[in-house]
Amino acid sequence: CGIVGYLGRREAYPLIMKGLKRLEYRGYDSAGIAVFQQNKLNVFKKKGKVADLEQAIGAKDLNAQAGIGHTRWATHGEPNDANAHPHLSGDKKLAIIHNGIIENYAALKKRLESKGHRFLSETDSEVLVHFIEDIRQETGETLEDAVRIALREVVGAYAIVLMSEDHPGRLIAARKGSPLVIGIGKDEYFLASDATPIVEYTKDVIYLNDLEIAVVTAGELRITAPDKTEKPLFIQKVELELEAIEKGGYPHFMLKEIFGQPKSIADSMRGRIHAGNESIQLGGLTGYFDRLADASRIIFIGCGTSWHAGLVAEYLFEELARVNVEVEYASEFRYRNPVIHPGDVVIAISQSGETADTLAAIELAKENGATILGVCNAVGSSIARATHAGAYLHAGPEIGVASTKAFTSQVTVLALMAIALGRRKGTLPDHTFRELLNGLQSLPGQIEQVLRNSDRIKEIGYIFTYARNFIYLGRGVHFPVALEGALKLKEISYIHAEGYPAAEMKHGPIALIDEDMPVIFIATRDSSYEKIVSNIQEVKARKGRVIAIVTEGDQLIKTLVDFTIEIPWTHEMISPLLSVVPLQLLSYYIAVMRGRNVDQPRNLAKSVTVE
Ligand code: G6P
Repeated sequence: CGIVGYLGRREAYPLIMKGLKRLEYRGYDSAGIAVFQQNKLNVFKKKGKVADLEQAIGAKDLNAQAGIGHTRWATHGEPNDANAHPHLSGDKKLAIIHNGIIENYAALKKRLESKGHRFLSETDSEVLVHFIEDIRQETGETLEDAVRIALREVVGAYAIVLMSEDHPGRLIAARKGSPLVIGIGKDEYFLASDATPIVEYTKDVIYLNDLEIAVVTAGELRITAPDKTEKPLFIQKVELELEAIEKGGYPHFMLKEIFGQPKSIADSMRGRIHAGNESIQLGGLTGYFDRLADASRIIFIGCGTSWHAGLVAEYLFEELARVNVEVEYASEFRYRNPVIHPGDVVIAISQSGETADTLAAIELAKENGATILGVCNAVGSSIARATHAGAYLHAGPEIGVASTKAFTSQVTVLALMAIALGRRKGTLPDHTFRELLNGLQSLPGQIEQVLRNSDRIKEIGYIFTYARNFIYLGRGVHFPVALEGALKLKEISYIHAEGYPAAEMKHGPIALIDEDMPVIFIATRDSSYEKIVSNIQEVKARKGRVIAIVTEGDQLIKTLVDFTIEIPWTHEMISPLLSVVPLQLLSYYIAVMRGRNVDQPRNLAKSVTVE
């Protein structure tokens, strides 16, 4: 979910609306705002997008200097007006916006109901605001202390912002497990779940830490620890530029991000390859590289696309650094009582750095003595802070819900790590080392070349717009690319798609193949070329329609399949960085032609801060 709060000298309503639009990628099934007007709390909320809320409010006069807003990704209760945030206390004097999940809300709700509280929604968040109200009434504590007491009893994750009719010039915020950033302007404060709604007003921010409570009043910000001790204000500069979070002429963020990959990959490598390709330096891993080199095992954890990057890393680390590797869904790993040794190094991969399951898996591995390294995009994010050390992607903000440039930057950074490790361990011959580094440096230019082919990919997309199913097949390092290609298509076009290791096809999916089934092969010239040609023939023998991603100049496959898309040759180990690009574009064009909301596909959210 997305959270915004404002208190200061400007008009709060337009500012909050703009902020909600910037945060909409975090959730978009309903939205709402609350503002103070003549010392009264005015709340508006609506199922649907922020634009629907704006339309419902219309020309109403919402002149106010303080307010809060929320855009929701439903957890408890379906998306409707009642379940939208802000939620009010029983006496309607307290409004809350909440991102996260209150796990013990059912027990709290029962307790409050027995005391006469009545609820208008099915959400856990409404329970929390009633609970705070109840504590205030029972104990007579200040609002801040009532919040503190309530949060002590709450199990789960939250970022909250509260407004109270009794304190018109004040916002109270707290977090645990879900992010919250405070922007500090001149006589004004901004609160948000990430810096995107803040950067156009100020670059000075404070990242609230877990369990801290912030109280914002006109001209003053105070942050306290759970034991009420005051915390010093640690103000940081955000490096985010406004243009990075705007579409810049592209119809969708996703397209902008796909086309931004030559730059984002170059940014991920910048300053990390040294002295005429002689060495790799990942500053964030300084002090931890020995542990990585001595690791008895490396376990990659992540969710969604980040998990796919982990799968690519498995091939890279095994091949180049000859180390034992496992790749785990964070959500499975954490609930499985996994065997973890102190000699294990866990590498957590996350674009947002806020994914709840990944964060919890990190804590579990830490408790068991493992060393945890992070590969995150969002600087200062919860995962970046929870890990012992790490390497940032520096890919710039990714706004499109379906991940594209973060994936290629993840693979780039993981490739740098694997190469550096192989070099260090002596498992990587000199000529391969050079070939890989040269290969990485040629990638931005080679991706440009793939992008120049976008019209052809669009045409192919047009032909398959109305397919109901797709199969994606690849071998070796291209197997995870097949999974990622299928995921992209599912996410944004809602076409059912499966990724499979090409050789595994004959053990099941081959039964699905007929003249209506499009099959995408990643069939570049590498160590499994002959084998994949055989797999293509198996599909063609059953009349499947084949689109093949091939190395430029390939003549053989052209004669076998319906369509080919050429990509330049690069070293096999880093070739996913090229082969994934046409698949991203294909999904994009199919989704656009089907009239889908590419940047905000139904039911999904960019960053999943609930388990
Ligand atoms: C969500 C997003 C995916 C993303 C996954 C993991 O499901 O929609 O695009 O891959 O979370 O997110 P993370 O921020 O941890 O990489």
